Amino acid sequence: MRKAPSAASSKRLESLFGPYLDRVCHRSARALEACGYGALLVHSGSLLPVFQDDRTYPFEVNAPFKVWTPLAEPDCFVYFEPGQRPRLVFTQPRDYWYKPPAPPEGYWTVHFDIRLCTDRESARGLLPPDLASTAYVGESFEGLAAWGVAAINPPRLLRHLDFDRAVKSPYELACLREASRLGARGHLAAEGAFASGASEFDIELAFLTACGLREQELPYNPIIALNEGGSVLHYQVLEKTPPARRHSLLIDAGAEFGGYASDITRTYSVADADFSALIARMDTVQQTLCAGVRAGVDWREVHLQAHRLTAELLRESEIVRCGADEALARGVTSVFLPHGIGHLLGLEVHDAGGFMRSPEDGDIPRPDGHPYLRLTRTLEEGFVVTMEPGVYFIDPLLEAARADDRSRLINWSRVESLRRFGGIRIEDDLAVTATGCENLTRDAFRAEQAREPS
Ligand code: GLY
Ligand code: MN
Ligand code: MN
Repeated sequence: MRKAPSAASSKRLESLFGPYLDRVCHRSARALEACGYGALLVHSGSLLPVFQDDRTYPFEVNAPFKVWTPLAEPDCFVYFEPGQRPRLVFTQPRDYWYKPPAPPEGYWTVHFDIRLCTDRESARGLLPPDLASTAYVGESFEGLAAWGVAAINPPRLLRHLDFDRAVKSPYELACLREASRLGARGHLAAEGAFASGASEFDIELAFLTACGLREQELPYNPIIALNEGGSVLHYQVLEKTPPARRHSLLIDAGAEFGGYASDITRTYSVADADFSALIARMDTVQQTLCAGVRAGVDWREVHLQAHRLTAELLRESEIVRCGADEALARGVTSVFLPHGIGHLLGLEVHDAGGFMRSPEDGDIPRPDGHPYLRLTRTLEEGFVVTMEPGVYFIDPLLEAARADDRSRLINWSRVESLRRFGGIRIEDDLAVTATGCENLTRDAFRAEQAREPS
């Protein structure tokens, strides 16, 4: 079950969903035609059993299914034949161990021909008998071979469908704004928990409670790191007791609404003026980078600009001994900033299609020496991206730099004094416009801070 929208927001979503679905139908029809298929069948996903047990892993709905509906139930299918209303085959198992899902309701349902069934076999009976020109998208399952589909996950068709997901419609932007609002609400509660001395685990509970979401409903497991934990990019431990001495918090956590994600990071210092100044300096870098975002900008350039600004920050903060140009040229910035500057955001936190030149023309390579950049496309109006510069004190990367000729460029005593803070990352979600961008995250924080307590 996803979080239900308020009545006002439901009305607005209702008015936006129809045009959005028309657009999905239109682009899917075009992709099917380009790839020689007559129809599309998309699976929401299967429940995966735990080895030698009768339990299953928490269900994760497939993103290509979320393109069509915000439902998050297993073994549902969308069947789409160009020119016809999309059909939703909704599985309601006859079960008394688990509560079967209620038939779908809400702003989006009027647009579908909805049919109810109890299992996969009966789902097949609600689809056209002949699927010989239908492309199937989703993981394979036992018995699928007998359904007679033309192809399972044909790569060319998937490229067409993924490519089109980058530009978000007004409906999707409304969902992304709502996901940002929920995320900001969670972050404000987490900041309060941190200020009162909570453990990583208790900070997560504060985040979840404020969002009104359980962990499996989030777009990714929150990264909540006190002190040195902040140097682990996807830190996952969630210690249940706070450390004896608390220095800092890095929290990277987002919420989900209607299947769309937010991806937000903030870093806080307990009381250290030097580290607080470094956080403020990073915030300026982040805002400078955000100010350069608009349609037509090559994202690879944004990433390289982030490294130039990081080199300046490292020099001004006396973390490196050399000039910014030398730090950049010798790859020293990558010791402190080893990840990409951002990625597409949408139905998945690292959304599909980040490298495609076009559906048919192959991929745009990453700049040399930047293996973790997840987006190389030129920005278009409607793209939603994250902007997430950082500086970290990561032991294995520092050890490697110490062992080679980068060693003399780094101020090791300064590094040693900062290691206990782990690192800094500041991450906002940006909706690209023709002339700039809408900062979904900062707008959401402002709105949540202005909200009357309920
Ligand atoms: N939360 C994962 C990321 O920022 O990419
Ligand atoms: Mn991110
Ligand atoms: Mn993040």
